[in-house]
Amino acid sequence: MLKVTNLVKYYKRFLAVDGLSFEVGDGEIVGLLGPNGAGKTTVLRCVTGIVQASEGAIEIDGIDLETNEEEVKRRIAFVPEVPTPYEMLTVWEHLRFIAMAYQTMDGFEERADAMLHRFDLDEKRNDLVLSLSKGMKQKLAIACAFIHEARVILLDEPLIGIDPRGVHELKEMISEAKSNGKAILISTHMLDTAERLCDRIIILRRGTILAEGNLAELHESAKMGKDASLEDVFLTLTEEGGEVEITPLS
Ligand SMILES: Nc1ncnc2c1ncn2[C@@H]1O[C@H](COP(=O)(O)OP(=O)(O)OP(=O)(O)O)[C@@H](O)[C@H]1O
Ligand SMILES: [Mg+2]
Repeated sequence: MLKVTNLVKYYKRFLAVDGLSFEVGDGEIVGLLGPNGAGKTTVLRCVTGIVQASEGAIEIDGIDLETNEEEVKRRIAFVPEVPTPYEMLTVWEHLRFIAMAYQTMDGFEERADAMLHRFDLDEKRNDLVLSLSKGMKQKLAIACAFIHEARVILLDEPLIGIDPRGVHELKEMISEAKSNGKAILISTHMLDTAERLCDRIIILRRGTILAEGNLAELHESAKMGKDASLEDVFLTLTEEGGEVEITPLS
């Protein structure tokens, strides 16, 4: 389980994340939504330890990031917003390198084969990463995240730029990870997908949580009827100046 308590992040004097607390349970998929600049990537980067939180605590299965960084990082898989793979490795070498780094080489070959097949990358296995198309690099980043046995999977806008079959496979992989008891946190602007895929949604704006819950709970927060779509809820809650009074979170 991922637990984030009172997370604050300043970039110099700019407050990007303002005291967020939330949890993602085992076998749960939580969607992180919010307008551009809301703080989604910052939250995910703080959770991975890529950027250092200014305040607050991040724990995975009760292990604290600050005091036990290596143990926490070992339990996290992350698909960044902009993947930066090692371009001078082949696709196969890249997958193997990640699996070795995370010490999860048991059954590596079968898992890697299956992953490449799912993402239609069989033909590219011996090609250098630098020769891949943009979407192929995104698929490789996803494959790398799923190749090791992480407890918590963080995905930052993973659906951008990959083809419909890739999107389908990724959704399947996320659902399978859920069935295997992983905690999954996914930032996205694709509201239809979030509505279908996520057990719970967190809507951020300017580094704070506007609303959190399943669709029914979000309807309540936005004071909207149960027929309202997630898009209606999102647009109402995130409208600047048109503030609805937000129901306090428990
Ligand atoms: N390295 C940085 N230095 C200074 N400010 C930053 C830095 N990274 C992000 N910010 C600022 O923090 C805020 C949150 O940015 P963040 O990238 O977390 O937003 P986001 O919700 O992921 O947006 P998007 O939907 O566009 O990906 C923005 O105002 C951004 O300009
Ligand atoms: Mg972002």
